[in-house]
Amino acid sequence: MTANNRVALSSDHAAIELRQAIAAHIAAHGWEAVDIGPTTPESTHYPQHGQAAARLVASGDCRFGIILCGTGQGIMMAANKVKGVRCGVCADTFSARMIRQHNDANMLSIGARVVGEGLALDIVDAFLTAQFEGGRHASRVDMIKALEG
Ligand code: RB5
Repeated sequence: MTANNRVALSSDHAAIELRQAIAAHIAAHGWEAVDIGPTTPESTHYPQHGQAAARLVASGDCRFGIILCGTGQGIMMAANKVKGVRCGVCADTFSARMIRQHNDANMLSIGARVVGEGLALDIVDAFLTAQFEGGRHASRVDMIKALEG
């Protein structure tokens, strides 16, 4: 585990219960869950929540971010607009591991209307335990960074 063990979590209204389950799960595995909500079920706007978690990761306050909406797609799009963030949507453990190993992703997005809780927790574990492999992948990640301007 890295020195910074803080993981930012946010979602929209479609994913509150799953987000809270993930926060409890990672806290039980030694991570500090920085859960920035929301906590009430009123309809809300995923771009705001995605951006808020992304800023915690981009600033270095949190090592990783885990974000959720109904599909995981909209909130991922918003997070990826923040410079320094590399976020992928995952509905399987292979992809969750690979976005760390090859893409050095620092954020994971999950669709609460796509995957159940058991699979979501496995996806989170795959993401948080995988390591970036560097090597030939580092220059490709650098090419992504160069696109940020
Ligand atoms: C909310 O209804 C839904 O659009 C949102 O959670 C997400 O799926 C958008 O990408």
